[in-house]
Amino acid sequence: MGVGGAHPGGLNLTKEIFNTEKIDGNSHVLDVGCGTGQTAAFLAAHYGARVTAMDINPIMIEKAKSRMKQYQLQVEVIQGSIEEFPLKDSTFDFILSESVLSFVNKPRALKEIFRLLKNGGRFIANELTVNEQLNPSSKEEIKQFYGLDSVLMEQDWDALFEQAGFKNVKVLMQKNSMLQNDSIPEFHSSENIDPELYTIMIQHLNILMKYQGILANRIILCTK
Ligand SMILES: C[S@@+](CC[C@H](N)C(=O)[O-])C[C@H]1O[C@@H](n2cnc3c(N)ncnc32)[C@H](O)[C@@H]1O
Repeated sequence: MGVGGAHPGGLNLTKEIFNTEKIDGNSHVLDVGCGTGQTAAFLAAHYGARVTAMDINPIMIEKAKSRMKQYQLQVEVIQGSIEEFPLKDSTFDFILSESVLSFVNKPRALKEIFRLLKNGGRFIANELTVNEQLNPSSKEEIKQFYGLDSVLMEQDWDALFEQAGFKNVKVLMQKNSMLQNDSIPEFHSSENIDPELYTIMIQHLNILMKYQGILANRIILCTK
């Protein structure tokens, strides 16, 4: 559907987070699972940062490339998986993952992110988190629908990041629910959208309503 900012809080939350980071024109940033490239484009345009955007999905890559071309931004857009991404060790000052870790093999992806980050570099994630322990059938419903291997609580994220070697791990709770988004929605729709996708979108909204107050997100900030 070409959604820009397919993460809780949208671009406004991304802007708020980077307001407190030391990012500038000398920073090299990797946007993991960049989707259609909205965040990557913002970081390049607003801070003049050198940005690399990567995603596993060829349609996302195509949309991200066309966005960079449209706005004449020198963002490098690469298709690949963050579970194994063939770039050199210690390449990036910042790595960002906005609603991506939830969908991948987390220990493998975190190991790769740690490797790609420079010493002292920052890793920032915005990830789906449950506020309370779910009963087995609710957990299964969420895992099945979103294709997740696990549904994590705040302390689980914290433990995974610590195990991967990150320091100063800080997990921030969000005041807005997953149904609230202050950013203006953006769609770069494909010409032919499978009608099933509209059904899936409605099911997604139903799940957000059903688990309001339980299904949430956390911002996880840490340093290598
Ligand atoms: C919920 S979307 C978020 C997209 C973008 N970060 C945003 O906020 O708009 C999740 C993205 O992760 C990508 N993704 C899933 N598995 C991945 C992997 N192993 N490596 C890189 N990207 C992946 C998907 O293709 C999708 O674009």
